[in-house]
Amino acid sequence: MDMLLPRRFLTDDFRTAARAAGWEGGFQTLTPARPGRLTRIRRRLGLDRTGHPGFMSPAPEDSDRVRVLMHAWPMTEESLAQIASSLPNLSWVHTTYAGVEMAARAIAGRDVLLTRAGPGSAEMPIEHATAMLLAMARSLPEHFVATSRRDWAVPPARRLGGSTVLVLGLGAIGSGFARNASALGCSVLGVRRRPDLGAPDGVDQLIELAELRSRLGECDYVVLALPATDETRDLVDADFLARMKPGAVLLNVGRGETVVEEALAESLRAGHLGGACLDVTRQEPLPENSPLYACPGLWLTHHTAYRSAPGRQEVASQEEFLVNLERFVAGESLLHLVDPTRGY
Ligand SMILES: NC(=O)c1ccc[n+]([C@@H]2O[C@H](COP(=O)([O-])OP(=O)(O)OC[C@H]3O[C@@H](n4cnc5c(N)ncnc54)[C@H](OP(=O)(O)O)[C@@H]3O)[C@@H](O)[C@H]2O)c1
Repeated sequence: MDMLLPRRFLTDDFRTAARAAGWEGGFQTLTPARPGRLTRIRRRLGLDRTGHPGFMSPAPEDSDRVRVLMHAWPMTEESLAQIASSLPNLSWVHTTYAGVEMAARAIAGRDVLLTRAGPGSAEMPIEHATAMLLAMARSLPEHFVATSRRDWAVPPARRLGGSTVLVLGLGAIGSGFARNASALGCSVLGVRRRPDLGAPDGVDQLIELAELRSRLGECDYVVLALPATDETRDLVDADFLARMKPGAVLLNVGRGETVVEEALAESLRAGHLGGACLDVTRQEPLPENSPLYACPGLWLTHHTAYRSAPGRQEVASQEEFLVNLERFVAGESLLHLVDPTRGY
């Protein structure tokens, strides 16, 4: 049996560690496909900003041997689906992403285990979301824009301590963020899908999903740390936004599909929401002509909440993968398994 993984992961150290984990099988690396002529022209003209090449399926004589597949940037959903479908004996896909919707769709209907990046991958998004909270509370984006124009127009100030923060999604990211918000003097409300799991540290009060909309008016900040699932898609719609407290701020480090962007832009233009800061949008990269760039009070980062020092996430992903590889070889249950019925 073989594992198939991106070439950059297959270092000597990785091979040694995989052998130490008990892996006696072989290794195959993913081969990037040469982009087609149309894609090359679109890239040259700046019309294709994805920069994601496809990957080739293994040759038929190799594909039967592949049992394990590692999914990592820049492999697209289409590429993963196409490769996975060429591997008849695939039993485990590990995605190095914390968001699993792409990988889950790509192997939907197959009897294949899916694991995801573990809690270590949440450190950076927790920092990013905390930075967004502080930046919005202290109006840093407006300060930076004004001073970069040599303009002494002082933006309004907000106070973070004593404000109420609602965190939607209390997994690895949401619970870490809640601890930080609490340490910064906020009162923290939280929502999770399975309230029976209880309120993590830092969450003063757990709110039932059914109660969510009626409690929005209490919150100065609403922070989204949700996966993309059928239940979370379009959750933040016009009604949700209208129920938010006037002047409140929305932050999103989860997935763009949770927010109805036209409704958000409308709420900001109308002056109902006080601001929004999104690390994720429905379409990424955000097209140059997107109206979101020009929306007043809307600040964007480039879906970079996960980023840390170069290569650090990949080392962490490899370590998590190797722990699971040992369990896989031993026939034990895997960690960070995705539940296909929950979708995360
Ligand atoms: N911007 C970035 O760079 C970046 C980086 C990493 C991850 N992400 C995104 O952030 C998401 C969260 O990451 P994570 O590591 O914290 O995931 P996680 O540990 O799986 O946590 C997900 C949380 O969402 C809750 N949830 C799921 N469906 C819900 C619903 N319908 N209503 C309310 N709560 C719901 C879950 O509730 P229970 O705990 O009760 O099950 C859980 O608390 C990922 O799925 C990924 O898409 C983005």
